[in-house]
Amino acid sequence: MIARRTLVAAGAALAALAAAPSAYAQATPFKIGLILPMTGQQASTGKQEEAAVKLWTAQNGSTVAGRKVEVILKDDGGVPDATKRIAQELVVNDKVDVLVGFGITPSAFATAPIATQSKTPMVVTAAATSAITERSPYIVRTSFTLPQVTVPMADWAAKNKIKKVVTFVSDYGPGLDAEKFFKSQFQLDGGEVTGEIRTPLRGPDFAPFLQKVADSKPDAVFVFLPSGQGAAFMKQFGERGLDKSGIRLIATGDVTDDDQLNDMGDVALGVVNSHHYSAAHASATTEKFVQAFEAANKFRPNFMAVAGYDGMHLIYNALAATKGKGGGDALLAAMKGQVFESPRGQILIDAQTRDIVQDVYIRKVERVPAMGNQLFNVEFDVQKAVKDPAKSK
Ligand code: DHB
Repeated sequence: MIARRTLVAAGAALAALAAAPSAYAQATPFKIGLILPMTGQQASTGKQEEAAVKLWTAQNGSTVAGRKVEVILKDDGGVPDATKRIAQELVVNDKVDVLVGFGITPSAFATAPIATQSKTPMVVTAAATSAITERSPYIVRTSFTLPQVTVPMADWAAKNKIKKVVTFVSDYGPGLDAEKFFKSQFQLDGGEVTGEIRTPLRGPDFAPFLQKVADSKPDAVFVFLPSGQGAAFMKQFGERGLDKSGIRLIATGDVTDDDQLNDMGDVALGVVNSHHYSAAHASATTEKFVQAFEAANKFRPNFMAVAGYDGMHLIYNALAATKGKGGGDALLAAMKGQVFESPRGQILIDAQTRDIVQDVYIRKVERVPAMGNQLFNVEFDVQKAVKDPAKSK
């Protein structure tokens, strides 16, 4: 009788041990290696995401399932070789449990093999070339893909009396995705792409390229430029009188980025563009997020901030699902299929592709009297639950 009771007790104790985080995990902080461009041309992305990660932590604490969480922020300057070296150091020396960030596609590409070799989940919160998630089975994305936001823009253009379009994109991964997916969808919808212009990623001067647009007189120019280049583009567009030329400007929301939009002035008014997040999105979650972010930072959160915030949300959920234990494969499994309410609306991490599924909005830049007469991307149409079209084929 006594023996039996002891056995039962021992069994219960063992079960409790198995469920609880190990003593090691309890004593060791869970480390998040956050790699962002805090300096250089992409510094606005770093600034936005750092602020978002801090806001997430301020609102949700730095303990998950009894485990202390530590964020280690490193600046890669937006230079892919630096991203890779920093990722290696974070994995080998700091023994981080997860890698997060990646301001531009080449930085994400450079780091993918490290995620695979070390079985470290790599949460991409900025870069948006479709193929990124295919470079490692450990990559999960909370930002977006260019094909995802471009196809709805092409559909809208074709339905709105736009027949001839010149595409105008930054000459690297996301720009080439935007160019390709705009053209194929627009042609399918009966439109014609009459010119394809590519501008350099580093230090572009848009003037000569804008002259080509003016000369070829399309109905519209469709533009993708990475976050941070929109204001310079818009200024030159206005200076060359293109805003009064009858050539419509349509774009992805990277160009009418909430980080810079309010400073662009009247030249941006009426620009129709497509994206997954607007600071003016009508939901209580968005409003709360934007208010808290602005109170802490004195600037408006853009789509990069939201993806960084959601990256933290994803990681906290995954760590909680492993009861604080973590582990690369367990975290990855817990990230797949997650659904939650983001400041942009509901998002899903597709379990097969590890890429994000989300609503994509068509918006128009307007002055909004109810919001301090500032410029916002005002949403007026939507495609629901859009999967990356480059992968759903
Ligand atoms: C990428 C970078 C950006 O700033 C952006 O707005 C979209 C894509 C990229 O490099 O993938």
